[in-house]
Amino acid sequence: MKQGIIIGASSGIGWELAVQLAAKGFQLGLMARRTDRLEQLLDSLPGEHFIQSTDVCNAEQAQQELTTLIERMGNVELIVVNSGVGRQEKKLDWVVEREMIDVNVRGFAAMSVMAMNYFVERGSGHLVGISSVFSHVTSGLMPTYAASKAFVSSYLNGIRSRAQYSGLPITITTVEPGFIDTPMVQGRPFWMATVERAVAQMVRGILAKRNHVYITKRWRLVAWMLNITPQWLMRKLF
Ligand SMILES: NC(=O)c1ccc[n+]([C@@H]2O[C@H](COP(=O)([O-])OP(=O)(O)OC[C@H]3O[C@@H](n4cnc5c(N)ncnc54)[C@H](OP(=O)(O)O)[C@@H]3O)[C@@H](O)[C@H]2O)c1
Repeated sequence: MKQGIIIGASSGIGWELAVQLAAKGFQLGLMARRTDRLEQLLDSLPGEHFIQSTDVCNAEQAQQELTTLIERMGNVELIVVNSGVGRQEKKLDWVVEREMIDVNVRGFAAMSVMAMNYFVERGSGHLVGISSVFSHVTSGLMPTYAASKAFVSSYLNGIRSRAQYSGLPITITTVEPGFIDTPMVQGRPFWMATVERAVAQMVRGILAKRNHVYITKRWRLVAWMLNITPQWLMRKLF
């Protein structure tokens, strides 16, 4: 049986990913802070799965918790680092910025490096990181979120190069969603996808071991346009 871990499984994309991967026959390890939600998810899934509470802001402790979960499960071949926070920054507020940096940057890197080192030791594996189309934006409205996701996408590119250089069959998938209807998103932005449809596309990309997946597909064009947008126009738009 294939085994996978989802970090940030208690809500939104991570929750739906658990539902759809379990339906594909994966045995899952589910991580997040809200264990009551993880237990609720566990009860709703077919088969036997594992939960492990973690707060990725406590980076070293979270690494230990990931290692413990891997040992409990036995032979994990897929790790999805999905945990993330996104806040609008109407005024620049360090407390708000710090949470995004702690979760989306420090927490993300701490979990990814553990996953990568485990896969190198294991001889193969698949790391999936959830970034955002916002990684292509410089934004006055959400400067920290955009910068944190630029880190995620760039870091995953670097890790992918290392994986390739190692010669081992280790896949790194970068997922860049546009807008998906989850508790993180306020209001009804344009091209908002349902979480079920978005995750179904994500799962197809993951199972096909793609390097890069845009969710939904039309956001690939937006990302390409953002890459060639001059900074003066970017400042007007975002
Ligand atoms: N929704 C979108 O439109 C969209 C677009 C682009 C990218 N994304 C990215 O997709 C990912 C999932 O977002 P979502 O929309 O599904 O949001 P969500 O429903 O708010 O889910 C966020 C998940 O991250 C976990 N998390 C947050 N802080 C954590 C911490 N300190 N330690 C451990 N886990 C933590 C949460 O679990 P606990 O609170 O229980 O810890 C939850 O499971 C994020 O990385 C987000 O940036 C979302």
